[in-house]
Amino acid sequence: MGAGLGPRPMAGIAQPTREEAMQQARLHVATHPLIAAQLTLLRAAGTEPPRFRTLLGELTTLLGYEALADLALAEQPIATPLEPMIGARVGEEIAIVPIMRAGLAMVDPLLRLLPSARVWHLGLYRDETTLQPVPYYNRTMRSGQAGRVLLVDPMLATGGSAVSAVGLVKEIGAVRITYIGLVAAPYGVMRLVEAHPDVDIYVAALDRELDERGYICPGLGDAGDRVFHTGE
Ligand code: PRP
Ligand code: URA
Repeated sequence: MGAGLGPRPMAGIAQPTREEAMQQARLHVATHPLIAAQLTLLRAAGTEPPRFRTLLGELTTLLGYEALADLALAEQPIATPLEPMIGARVGEEIAIVPIMRAGLAMVDPLLRLLPSARVWHLGLYRDETTLQPVPYYNRTMRSGQAGRVLLVDPMLATGGSAVSAVGLVKEIGAVRITYIGLVAAPYGVMRLVEAHPDVDIYVAALDRELDERGYICPGLGDAGDRVFHTGE
């Protein structure tokens, strides 16, 4: 991943500023100090895959907690050791849609919060020459089962993968879509908002820009490679 080597599809392309992206009402950038501290450890080049996966999981739990603050509840009657009471349970059908590969590392933390959620794996990778998303797996999404969708992927770079994924879940009738990611670039945020203005976007950080290869700067590098110990 040497600087200046290989295709440079973002060369010469104008990018919005952080300030412009921050004005989008649907963008929620975390402000919790624990998220800032964990994300710093995640970004550091010396963080090896086992620790990287653990940190990504912890950050997903914290972001999930924020993104699901408006979750609908249904009444759940129970008996405590002292008396009956009306408690609460999650009152919405939820599907978690991880964009492979890196989104896979965000599934288990969310399933611990939402044990009854469905998981619809979605295979997309971006062509490094064109930065266009290339679909390769989508066999489990079902029309009629789509209530609220949590689309999860650590990186919102050009936004191509997220825009395509939201289009796919809308095709099967998802009524509400929430994107949960770790690091976003202003360019990707603006593209997602323009293509799908009804999607709520929760991220741990909004970074400065994309480099000429389409990597988020300062970013954290290639998320899939860092989760799965692939690449150079
Ligand atoms: C990464 C990341 C996103 C995508 C973001 O995946 O996990 O899915 O890039 O880039 P975009 O916003 O420009 O579309 P990648 O394509 O590297 O797939 P991989 O993890 O399977 O290698
Ligand atoms: N995908 C990644 O994994 N990292 C980036 O910075 C951009 C896209």
